[in-house]
Amino acid sequence: MIKETQRISLPEFDLDGVVPWGRRLAEYQAFFALDYIAGIGPVLDAGGGPSSFAAEVASAGVRVVAADPIYRLPGETIAARFEETAVAMHEGMARATYRFNWGHYGSEEVVHRMRREALALFLSDFEVGKAVGRYVPAALPNLPFADGAFRLALSSHLLFLHGDTLDFDFHVAAMKELLRVAGEVRVFPLFNLDGRPSSHLPGVMRAMGQDGVRCALREVPFEFQKGARQMLVAWRG
Ligand SMILES: C[S@@+](CC[C@H](N)C(=O)[O-])C[C@H]1O[C@@H](n2cnc3c(N)ncnc32)[C@H](O)[C@@H]1O
Repeated sequence: MIKETQRISLPEFDLDGVVPWGRRLAEYQAFFALDYIAGIGPVLDAGGGPSSFAAEVASAGVRVVAADPIYRLPGETIAARFEETAVAMHEGMARATYRFNWGHYGSEEVVHRMRREALALFLSDFEVGKAVGRYVPAALPNLPFADGAFRLALSSHLLFLHGDTLDFDFHVAAMKELLRVAGEVRVFPLFNLDGRPSSHLPGVMRAMGQDGVRCALREVPFEFQKGARQMLVAWRG
């Protein structure tokens, strides 16, 4: 029998880097405590991947841009990568099920169903959205946007979560870049893929503070990784 301490150290999610796995608008609203979407634009979804956030808020009339290096790829290739990710996620969740609070989704089937809904909405908007500049192929920490182009920038399930793949310096550079293009930045979750609080977070907040940025940790009405109930909010004071 495997002891809890041994299980925690196992690499439960065998993912090939930062993978495309996208969430719905309602999930983003919970991650970022966005009670309303009216008035949040112009908003940037940094590392939007196959999330339907941009498609859904655009159809509600909000100005939105999603930036992600995978937007260089055709929709079919993104869909194929999503399928590979779905297999790895299924295996990872089976191994790590004890690390999740299932109260929000209820079951893994619901999680996968929502990811597929998000992918379908994203794909149905991708070509048209790309033509009007809603989906921009770009990678942090270098974004092709003007200073202050956005009121709000969101980073969901990229920074901190992939802290093993993306190092501390990347996080600081990415946060500075997001704060260059947006008045306020919100990041969720603040835990690593291994289910522990990101070791980068305290240093990133310190570095931001030294750069004149105000940072706050705020509770959000969402918890999936057990204990991950806070977002980082950063703005220039
Ligand atoms: C796990 S997905 C999250 C997608 C979406 N934000 C969500 O929460 O549903 C992470 C995304 O980050 C993208 N990504 C990886 N490196 C990036 C970088 N340097 N800059 C921007 N996006 C990046 C990946 O291509 C992938 O689509």
